Parts: sequence; C-alpha cells; structure tokens
Amino acid sequence: MSNIIVTGAQWGDEGKGKIVDLLTIDADYIVRYQGGHNAGHTVVIGNKEFILHLIPSGILHPGKKCVIGNGVVIDPHALITEIDALKERGIEVKDNLFISGRAHIIMPYHRAIEKESEKLKGSLRIGTTGRGIGPTYADKMARVGIRVADLIDSEVFKDKLKINIQEMNYFLDKLYSAKGFILDDVYNEYMGYAERLRNFVVDTSLLINKAIDEGKNVLFEGAQGTHLDVDHGTYPYVTSSNATAGGACTGTGVGPTKIDRVLGVVKAYTTRVGSGPFPTELKDKTGEFLRERGREYGATTGRPRRCGWFDAPATSYAAKVNGFTDIALTKLDVLDDLEEIKICTGYMYNGRRYDELPSELKILEGCEPIYESLEGWKVSTSGISRYDDLPQKAKAYINRLKELISVEITIISTGFRRDETITLRKIF
Ligand code: GDP
Ligand code: IMO
Ligand code: MG
Repeated sequence: MSNIIVTGAQWGDEGKGKIVDLLTIDADYIVRYQGGHNAGHTVVIGNKEFILHLIPSGILHPGKKCVIGNGVVIDPHALITEIDALKERGIEVKDNLFISGRAHIIMPYHRAIEKESEKLKGSLRIGTTGRGIGPTYADKMARVGIRVADLIDSEVFKDKLKINIQEMNYFLDKLYSAKGFILDDVYNEYMGYAERLRNFVVDTSLLINKAIDEGKNVLFEGAQGTHLDVDHGTYPYVTSSNATAGGACTGTGVGPTKIDRVLGVVKAYTTRVGSGPFPTELKDKTGEFLRERGREYGATTGRPRRCGWFDAPATSYAAKVNGFTDIALTKLDVLDDLEEIKICTGYMYNGRRYDELPSELKILEGCEPIYESLEGWKVSTSGISRYDDLPQKAKAYINRLKELISVEITIISTGFRRDETITLRKIF
C-alpha cells in the first residue's frame, strides 16, 4: 500500500492529468485537495480527450473512488455541468464520487468581485481564470465562507447568504459601482444545486483515513503548480490555495505521516498562463514553436500559454518545498525538432549572480537568466516507451535535468496518450 501526492513543479499545466490517469491504474482513491475549476487536466484515452476541472482525473477509470476534499472550492453549477458532461460521454458518476462537507462554495458574488477587482487593477491584474477562486478563499480565511454542509441545510444557508449578500452588494455598489445580487434569486438557484449534490456529501477525511487503514492506495491529485502556490509561488501572481504537497494534508485531513511519496510533474520546458514574472520566457520564434508544437493553449480558458526554456533553480526550489521523491518529466517530444536546447541554471540581477530562485518579485521580473546550452537530438521521440530507444542527446538532456534538480526521474512522457510513456520505476 502507498499514498502518493502528485503536484505540479512549475506554473501549472505540466501534464498532471496524464500522469494521474496513468497512476490511477494502481490507485483505489483519487483525491483533489485544493483549487477549484480553475484547473484543467487533460486526459486522452484512445481518440477521446477529456478535460477535468473539479472532478479527479481518476473518474475515467471504472471502479475507482474519487474524492473532492475540504481544501477545494466548489462552484456547484460547474460541478453539476461536469458530472452531466461526463455522464453524456458514458462515464459513471454516482457512488464513485465523494464531496467533503467542509469544502467551500463559490458564490456568484465571488466571481463578480474578482471581475471588478481585476478590472480595477488594470495592468497590475493577476490574469485570473475568472472563476471566483480568490474571493472564495478570502471568505474562507475571513471565516464568512459558506461550506457544502451549509449549502445542504437550507436554514443555515439562508442565514449565511443573507449576511454575505448584504455585505457583498455594498462592496459591489460602493467600491465598483457594479450591480449586486437578489437574495431570493441566489437562494433558489443554490437550493436546486443542493438537491443535486446532497447524496455525494460525506466526511471525506474519515473516508480517506479509513481507506488508508485498510491498506488502500490513495493518489492525491494536485492542481496548479508550485510557483502558483499562495505561500511558495511568485506572490501576488499566484492562485489562492496551497498547490504544494503540504496542501494535500490540510486539504484532505490526512496526516503527513501517512504520505509515502511525493511525485513532481515537471514539463521539459516552462509555461505559464496569466500575468507574473517568468525569467526564461521566450517572446520569439522559439517561444512560438513551443506553443504550437506543445499545443500550449489553456485547457480552462483557451488562453495562449507563455512559453520558455527549462528553469532549473525554479524547479529545484519546487523539489525542496514539496519534498519530491520522484519526478515525472513530461512533453519531452515537444523539443524533438530543436537545434539547440537551453537550460537556465541561475540569474543575473544588478551585476550579482543568483543560483537559487529569488523570492523578491522585483529581482524575478528584472533578472537575466544564465543559460547553458545543449545540442538538440533532432529525431522523433514521440511515443517512445523504452528508455533505451531514446536518442543519446535526449538522454543527456534528461540526465542534466536530473542532476540540476537532484531528484530521481521515474516517469518520462513522450506524448499525450497513456502508452506514450517510459516508466523507469513503478511508484506504487
Ligand atoms: P495539467 O493541468 O497539468 O493536467 O496539464 P494540461 O492538461 O493543462 O496541459 C498538458 C497538455 O499537454 C495536455 O494537452 C496534455 O494532453 C498534453 N500532454 C501531456 N503529456 C504530454 C507529452 O508527454 N507530450 C505531449 N506532446 N503532450 C502531452
Ligand atoms: P492546472 O491545474 C495554469 C493561474 C491563472 C492566473 C493565476 C490565478 O490546469 O495546472 P485563479 O483563477 O486561480 O485565481 O488565477 O493562476 N492558474 C493556472 N495556470 N494551470 C492551472 O491549473 C491554473 N489555475 C490557475 O492563469 O495566472
Ligand atoms: Mg491544466
């Protein structure tokens, strides 16, 4: 038995969906622990593509149990839409999904506040997904949030909603001159959602802990990535949750002593969506090449992803704050046609060299990356599933990354399909 956390090592979209789908084969429970439907996890099975936003990617495997933990924020309308869309495609979502009563609910005023706040920030906007994630977590911390357990108790829900709507309408009107919400409309809409979701709600912490006691394998599916983590990321250009491994414990109610391995999903280059510092960003033809070849367009918002070279100090920082025991290296095949491949090994700022990722936004925004250059392999690695079949120069690139991150690479992904994978060591 093993309990494994999977987290993104960069700025999200590292290919967590594909890796989680792969590992699900050996898992009994697949658990989301933070974030919300800002996530977009792509899984390709045969010629069918699925993009999961809130429901763990494990749902695509019959017989696996999927859990939305307390650390997740849930937009009930988005969740119901996702359940219905899966059912329409023949995926069962019934007694295989469990939702924590402690998870917080995204309300329409959260989306409205976020929209107005982003508008007001102008060029300083975060470039959020517009899903109301930040304001919902803000309410959670301010202890005025509405939880799933409140939603399914109509009296409690109405009492909380009444106070919140009063306050939010005041904000919207006075601060942003924006339209507020009508209590009864929101109440009636959400009571409909409550009925649809009621039967999924349980104490998921007890459920997962029991499963662990029974020797089941639990896979914790992170959303976003280390540098979008509210504590460890490029604050304030981050999301509002703990995307790093620690978030899996607080976001599910499973103690750290129960965790066996932490797998970091690392893209063979770097991408980022939204605003914020990105030292190795390429605004040239190579950046465009990576975007097109890697199909780097947001799985949630469709926005083009910013692309750049591999950033070793940023990834090795991620290895430390997550405590990675393993790495899954993804999208190696995207680099196939390049003459030259660069790796950032440090940064220069004001004449000083930084070997570690600086925490100061000013330095991250103004620094020049220091690169070392490797020769491209210029042959296709697409779909390779045996390490020995990789070209020598691709092995050299992988080995250099391993050296710089100081973590074992146990999975190498060479395409978006399940079988386009090299498994060097089974991690369950
Ligand atoms: P996530 O948010 O971390 O789950 O990643 P996304 O699904 O948002 O983005 C990753 C994209 O890369 C998806 O379109 C995947 O189908 C695709 N992908 C994953 N692994 C590989 C790979 O090894 N090679 C290629 N070419 N595409 C991949
Ligand atoms: P997955 O799980 C990439 C980014 C947004 C924005 C910032 C804050 O698919 O890797 P938010 O709506 O969360 O308040 O936006 O975070 N962001 C992501 N970027 N992948 C994601 O998820 C993301 N989820 C949020 O673009 O910059
Ligand atoms: Mg994604």
